[in-house]
Amino acid sequence: MSPQYCVTLSDVQEAHRRIQGLVHMTPVMTCSSLDALTEHKLFFKCELLQKTGSFKIRGALNAVKSLQSDKHTAVVTHSSGNHGQALALAAQIMGIPAHVVVPSTAATCKKSAIRGYGASIVECEPTDESRAEVAAKTVQKTGGVLIHPNQDPAVIAGQGTIGLEVLQQVPGLEALVIPVGGGGMLAGIAVAVKAIKPDVKIYAAEPLNADDCYRSKINGILTPNLHPPITIADGVKTSIGPNTWPIIRDLVNDVFVVTEDEIKSATRLVWERMKLLIEPTAGLGLAAILSSRFQEKARDMQNIGVVLCGGNVDLSSVDWLKPLSSN
Ligand SMILES: Cc1ncc(COP(=O)(O)O)c(C=O)c1O
Repeated sequence: MSPQYCVTLSDVQEAHRRIQGLVHMTPVMTCSSLDALTEHKLFFKCELLQKTGSFKIRGALNAVKSLQSDKHTAVVTHSSGNHGQALALAAQIMGIPAHVVVPSTAATCKKSAIRGYGASIVECEPTDESRAEVAAKTVQKTGGVLIHPNQDPAVIAGQGTIGLEVLQQVPGLEALVIPVGGGGMLAGIAVAVKAIKPDVKIYAAEPLNADDCYRSKINGILTPNLHPPITIADGVKTSIGPNTWPIIRDLVNDVFVVTEDEIKSATRLVWERMKLLIEPTAGLGLAAILSSRFQEKARDMQNIGVVLCGGNVDLSSVDWLKPLSSN
């Protein structure tokens, strides 16, 4: 009997129907200079051009649209990053309130983006305990439902729609490289791709400084990061969890870890050669492909897909823009 996961191919297909027309079918782009550099044919799935600037709207919208409207009148989350913005827009589209719990120390630009999509911000202390406590209180107070950024099955199924699109857009795909944080995107795509084309290799890309997915695969048991990781790839500081781990354990072929310098130089290469303003988390895939272990492993592969997962760069970190900064 095949293993039971929290998400199936039909959940991903259903999610695709549910969100169609409300999110972009993002383009796949190629770049001959990066092909020459890596000696592969690379296909970049441009989720930085997705609504809200990352793939996160796929999962958030699928989750909000799947709620029973008579039971839930609001949604709550405690992600100040891309999921917070995505959930805010998803709730706005569906006409229900969203409450996003954000540490008081979060960057002003992040809070403005969340407010810009119509959500209300609930501030908490910058600790995990305070976040969880304030989120629980907000759920109680608003009658809302908490939508987890990467372990909610509807979120995982929504992120998996990237896999359905890439298979359509790149017919001869041999491998797909996907950044991993909590693993919602990786697990969703793995379920979809392996069910349709089992021979396509699914590879995860992760910072060495946040290598819980790599260590979990080596140990054969869920092994979360012990301390909050320090990495420029801020979208993947979270550890994989109980819903994404069984899928990753069984369906992901390998995990490649990269250093901070490798992430920075891959991000810069995409900016310079492709003119695409990706955030550093989205540089992980190319960084993995450029690593010697990947080159060794994938030497005979031609067509490799890379998910450029987001483009929400904090522009206040760009020195020469600072005098013009509006927030
Ligand atoms: C741009 C970006 N890429 C990748 C991830 C990681 O996604 P997941 O937690 O589903 O692995 C995130 C999560 O916030 C993100 O914002």
